[in-house]
Amino acid sequence: MNNFRKIIRIIIPSIWYCYISGIRYRKGWQIRGRIRIIKNNFLSNKRNGLLKIGKDFKCNNTIKSNTIGVFQPCIFNISFPKSKIIIGDNVGISGSSICACESVIIGNNVLIGSGCLITDTDSHPVDWNDRRENNNDKKGISPVKICDDVFIGARSIILKGVTIGERSVVGAGSVVSKDVPPDCIVAGNPAKVVRFLKQEDDHENKYRQPKDLKC
Ligand SMILES: CC(C)(COP(=O)(O)OP(=O)(O)OC[C@H]1O[C@@H](n2cnc3c(N)ncnc32)[C@H](O)[C@@H]1OP(=O)(O)O)[C@@H](O)C(=O)NCCC(=O)NCCS
Repeated sequence: MNNFRKIIRIIIPSIWYCYISGIRYRKGWQIRGRIRIIKNNFLSNKRNGLLKIGKDFKCNNTIKSNTIGVFQPCIFNISFPKSKIIIGDNVGISGSSICACESVIIGNNVLIGSGCLITDTDSHPVDWNDRRENNNDKKGISPVKICDDVFIGARSIILKGVTIGERSVVGAGSVVSKDVPPDCIVAGNPAKVVRFLKQEDDHENKYRQPKDLKC
């Protein structure tokens, strides 16, 4: 694409979509459609949260902006007092919801397919008494980390407390409830390792316990 076409077709629309989404455009970003950023919840008018996005961000929010279709805009929920969503460099996200009560951290070169949900909270308590009494402070919350070079297939759900190791792939439509080691494919509900992406000995050198993973 020549420079003029790039300015007309990518840069100007991206600047506009950032403006109507309430975020500042950064050079190199490609934004298609408005992102919904939820900064305050209905319980308080206070604006909460931190949203940090790195270089070369690509974000698809309209039906035609992705080859398999996008059925919702991206929603970034940072409406809780300690909410933090941090997105690294060269990340691509299509029509997905990210909800951070505490923190969702996404590394560099991560791809998130259409219609995914990434949340660090159960949103409601497990105990029925607490739900009846609206004791929402008893809901489960645990930070989510998605390390560098991860690819999350369309319509996947990443639940609270999960760390996905470097270079791993989450199969389409998976529900990830436990940590994923680096260099593997996980799939299904609940997601399980279906294949490692390196040779056994190479893998043994690379494998680290999830708590030691670095993003
Ligand atoms: C994960 C993926 C990349 C794996 O592709 P692959 O390397 O060709 O893997 P295979 O097809 O050899 O699958 C290996 C095993 O995992 C299973 N599997 C693969 N993807 C699966 C999925 N999404 N859910 C459940 N099982 C899955 C296969 O059935 C196979 O099982 P088997 O060993 O019992 O036969 C691919 O299946 C996938 O889900 N792609 C994502 C597509 C997508 O969402 N794109 C985003 C567009 S925005």
